[in-house]
Parts: sequence; C-alpha cells; structure tokens
Amino acid sequence: MTSEHGSDSKAPKQIANVMNETRVFPPSGEFSRNASIGSMQAYESIYNHSIADTEKFWESQAREHLHWFEPFTKTLDWQEPFAQWFLGGKTNVSYNCLDAHVQAGRGDRVAFHWEGEPGDTRTITYAELTKEVSRFASALSKLGIQKGDRVSIYMPMVPELPVAMLACARIGAIHSVIFGGFSAEAIADRNNDAQAKLVITADGGWRRGKLLALKQTVDEALAKSPSVEHCIVLRRAGNETKMHAGRDLWWHELTANQPDDFPAVALDSEDPLFILYTSGSTGKPKGIKHTTAGYNLYAKRTFEWVFDHKPDQDIFWCTADCGWITGHSYIVYGPLSAGATQVLYEGAPNWPAEDRFWELIEKYKVTILYTAPTAIRAFIKWGDHHVEKHDLSSLRLLGSVGEGINPEAWMWYYNKIGGGRCPIVDTWWQTETGGIMMSPLPGAIACKPGSCTKPLPGIIPRVLHADLTDVGTNEGGMLCIEKPWPGMLRGVWGDDERFNETYWKRVPHMYLTGDNARCDEDGYYWIMGRIDDVINVSGHRLSTIEIESALVSHPSVAEAAAVGRPDEIKGQGIAVFVTLKNHAPDESIRDELKKHVRKEIGALAVPDEIRFTTMLPKTRSGKIMRRLLRDIASGKQSVQDTSTLEDFSVLAKLRGDEEG
Ligand code: WTA
Repeated sequence: MTSEHGSDSKAPKQIANVMNETRVFPPSGEFSRNASIGSMQAYESIYNHSIADTEKFWESQAREHLHWFEPFTKTLDWQEPFAQWFLGGKTNVSYNCLDAHVQAGRGDRVAFHWEGEPGDTRTITYAELTKEVSRFASALSKLGIQKGDRVSIYMPMVPELPVAMLACARIGAIHSVIFGGFSAEAIADRNNDAQAKLVITADGGWRRGKLLALKQTVDEALAKSPSVEHCIVLRRAGNETKMHAGRDLWWHELTANQPDDFPAVALDSEDPLFILYTSGSTGKPKGIKHTTAGYNLYAKRTFEWVFDHKPDQDIFWCTADCGWITGHSYIVYGPLSAGATQVLYEGAPNWPAEDRFWELIEKYKVTILYTAPTAIRAFIKWGDHHVEKHDLSSLRLLGSVGEGINPEAWMWYYNKIGGGRCPIVDTWWQTETGGIMMSPLPGAIACKPGSCTKPLPGIIPRVLHADLTDVGTNEGGMLCIEKPWPGMLRGVWGDDERFNETYWKRVPHMYLTGDNARCDEDGYYWIMGRIDDVINVSGHRLSTIEIESALVSHPSVAEAAAVGRPDEIKGQGIAVFVTLKNHAPDESIRDELKKHVRKEIGALAVPDEIRFTTMLPKTRSGKIMRRLLRDIASGKQSVQDTSTLEDFSVLAKLRGDEEG
C-alpha cells in the first residue's frame, strides 16, 4: 500500500508560487484596545510560552477551561501516532456546553436565534436547550442506546440537529452527522462502516423553497443498513411520511414524557465523541474520529481566541451546516462551550432573495460572521445592491473557512461587508485537526489578503520539501505539524492502517496535512492547495476516486477520470473524462451519468462537465495522466476535439514519460 499523499517522485522539487500579494491590513486601534489579545507582542508572548512546553500549556488550559467531574492525572500519552490527552479525567461535552452555563446563572442567555428558511423562528436559551437535550438524551437511553453506540444523524439545520448531537454526547453515544445533501447510498455506506444502531432524521427540510424528503432517502438507505435497529423522525416539514412499525419512532412522541433534568454521564477524556466522514484519495470515505476532552478544549479555546469572543456582546453567526466539521466545532461545541449567542439558519443564501444573509445580519444584529469563500464569490456575482439595502453596522469581525480566499474576494468582503472596519480571520484547518490551526488573532495580527497568517498557541507548523528537508522563505512544500495537539484526530474509524499511512508514514514524527504551503519573510503562511487527488468544491472535500467509482458503477461506463478545474463560484468545479462501453456519446447519456452520480454520492459531486473519449491518456505504467487532464479541463492545453469525442492517443504518447 502506498501513502495517500504518495509522492510524485518526478515532480519538480519546488512548488510554483504564483501569488504576489503585498497589502497589509492591521486592526484598528479601537479593535485592538478592546481585544483580549490586543497586540503582536501579546500574541508572541502567548505563542512562545505555549510552544516552550506544549504539554504544560495544554495542561493549564484544560484545568482552567473545562469542567471536570474528576481531574485528569496525565496530560499526554503519545505513542506515535496515537495520542491520548488528559488521562484519568472525567468530563462531559454536553455538560460543558449546557449545564455549566445554567449552573453559573446564565440559563437565560440566548443560545440560538433560529430562523427556518420559510421564515419561521425560534429563540432558545441555554436553560431551554439544556432541558431539551436532557429529554432527548433520556429518550435515547430508554431506547437502549448506550455509551459507545454509533448514531447517524441526517437532518436539516433545525435546532433539533444540535440537540441530537448534544444528547448523544450527554450519554456517551458516538454521533456521525451526515450532511443533508448526501444520497441514500452515501448514508448506507456510512451506517455500515460505523455499524450504526440508530438513525435520527426529519420528515423533510427546506432548501431554496424546495422540500427535501429526508426520511424517504433514509428509508432507501435503511434497506441496505442491517445494523440499524431504529429510526427517530422529527416532524419538521409536515410532508406525508411512511413510518415502519417497530423500527420508526416520532421524535415528539418519544420525548413527550421524558425528564428535563437527565444528568450528563461522567465520561473518560478519551471516550469517542463523534465520527465525521470525509474524503480521502481512495474511493472509501474515512471516518475521522474525535474524542471528548481534547476536542472540547480545542474547539472552545480556538473559538475564543480567533473570534475574540465576548459572551455578553457578540452575536455569532457561522453559516456552515452541522454536517461538516465547521458546524461541529464552530456552531455546536466551540461556541456553546464558550456560552455564545448564535444565529442558526436553515436555508439557502438566495432564498427568497439574494439578500437573505444581509437581512438576517441586520435583523439579529450579528457582530461576527463566519462564512466560506464560495459564498463570498456568489455574493459578488449577485451584485452589491443586495448588500446595500441593509444596515450591516453591527458587524465587527468577519471570518472565512474551507478553502483559500483569493485576494480580490477578500477585498470585497473587507470593504463591502465589513465596511473597511472589520478584520477578516482567514482560518486554515481540517476535519482532522478538530479546530482552527492557523488564523489571524484579529486584535493582534495584521491581515494579508489570501494568507491564514500565523499558527495558534500550541501549534508548530513546518513546511518540507519532498525529500523532507525544510523549505526556505517563500518556497512551497508539504505542510506538516510538529507536535500533537488536543484537537487532533484520534484515528480513522476501524482502520488504524489507513490512519498511519495517510497522516504519519510519509514524514516521520509529524502530522502530514495533505496541503502545500509556503511561509513568507514575515512568518505568514499561505496555503497552496492539496498534495493529493482531493478536490475542493464549494469548500467541501471530494476525492476524485469517489466520483470515478460512482461513474464506473454505471453499466455504460468503461473508465472514468475526474479532475478539478477552476470555477468562478465554487472554487473548483468537477470535470470528468469518460469512456463508454455500449452507448453512443450523446446528451441522453450525459444526463443519465449526472443523475447517476447524484444518486451515488449526492448533488455536490455532480460533474460540471462530462467529456467523452475513446481512451484515457495513461503513462506506460498505466496511471491516468491527471496533470494533462487537469490542463485540458482548465483550457490550458487543447486537444483535437472531434466534437463530442476526444482522442488522447497522440497526446498520451507525447507525454507518456512525464508523469510518474
Ligand atoms: C482547505 C474545513 C486555504 C485545505 C475546515 C484543507 C483551506 C481542507 C482553508 C480541509 C483556508 C480549509 N485556506 N485552504 N483558510 N481552510 N482549507 O476537512 O485544503 O472540510 O486541507 O475542513 O480545506 O477541509 P475540511
């Protein structure tokens, strides 16, 4: 088996750096004065202290910032690549997110201002959320769900989604949230990999005015998920829903007579909290495993540092879906641990009109907005007039996540949304890292558009050449992390071998991120894209092989190759090259293949472009020449295009020895 980030030994040693951005935006004096870390000296002093003795640093953070039923006795046990943090301690993430605030007299503080896409709203305080989570945790427990059981959650962005996550955390069940856009096939794969016992879903949800019949998709998945015993269904959209007697249960019936003071179970620091599936460069999604105390601490502290969070003043809005890591760490676990008041929104940014986000910011007086570059690019395209209709003066800080933000989109975000007064925290991190790893601390570190700037406390990045020597200033290379940190993944569910191969084998004694980066003369980091065959569509990771496998599972497809190509809105679009077996290359098969991918993986993986070819260009050793295909898909290299059919035979011969 080779590493997922297997090197291309013939690739040039250096990675070209084409970006030359020199603008610098320091925070205003007023912002810095009010910030908890308000100067470069303050950042440097915390950072230097944190890395002088990382274990000691995290030990004191954990003692101070989490509630412990029993204190831990050992900070770190590091049997590379397996880390265990805060051993001997007992805590509960749901307690830290809920009870801790109620106990401290903050029960009346609003946790969520929720807004459904159709315009229905709910305001939920910490005390109410605690009760709701208690009732649902009690119901789960009576249903026989125990510590360590896996629970899949497939829901729209309604308050019951965080409630379901927190209820699992309260009893020590391990949740696996599956984004509501995934197909029945994808749900079944995840259920089976995790051997889930229970699925929690809703009758339907709203997206761009359309009803998504979630339960119907789950029914299809459950036909292929033998481990699942029960399915709990929330009534959200009111659409007609078939219930299977004995298996399916309504949320409202189940919770009707449950106690609202069901206690949080004292769990071990390393008890698993959740699995979240993400794409790697093989066809099978990997279940990234996070555990209790370390993840909770990391999500909480990074939230407080990066967003300079002020519990009594800020209204925080992260526009991600709870189905992604950003929703886990910066809607549910980080902000709730920190006692934040948040906006939670169910629907699309352009429903009923393209100003929905700006309307919500004005309505709830949002002070911190955390969104993704793909959304920002869409806003730019939709036009400034949608923004100008609204008063956005409540905003004081902006954030970006999921992919690099190009400098022009950064400038638009800064000027149009932030009114030139809000710093932008460009946060670099991954599902695997559990929380933000590099980002400006907004009161301290001046921003450079397109750079995620500097590492957070306790994090030591290193950039290496393929031969494992350190790169020089402004030279691109593989981004690695030198020491374990509390939020790091603890493994790939059921696959230690893959965990080791993917993240630890290629570079000894370091975590390999899979991204390329460079560090400039000011010590600012610039992310330069992936090392592996993972493409980033609208901030979501998809592996090319997953898409290819889906295509090849269609009876008319002989072979397929998927590559990313630049896309104005989505960052990267998906182009696929397909050879057919028994079908003419025409529009009907093109549509059919798109539908097929939608069914196999979900809408986000549907190719933007399908090109047919008699053969795929390959090296002599039989590897698909992806670099060539990428160039063709992005228009950098042309081919003799015989209208619908492309012939690579000549090009393949010409380039046969170039790719490894
Ligand atoms: C990319 C999302 C540049 C990167 C939190 C990473 C970024 C992958 C940034 C993880 C950023 C995320 N600048 N690239 N600020 N943030 N990425 O697991 O390639 O969905 O490895 O986690 O997104 O995606 P994931």
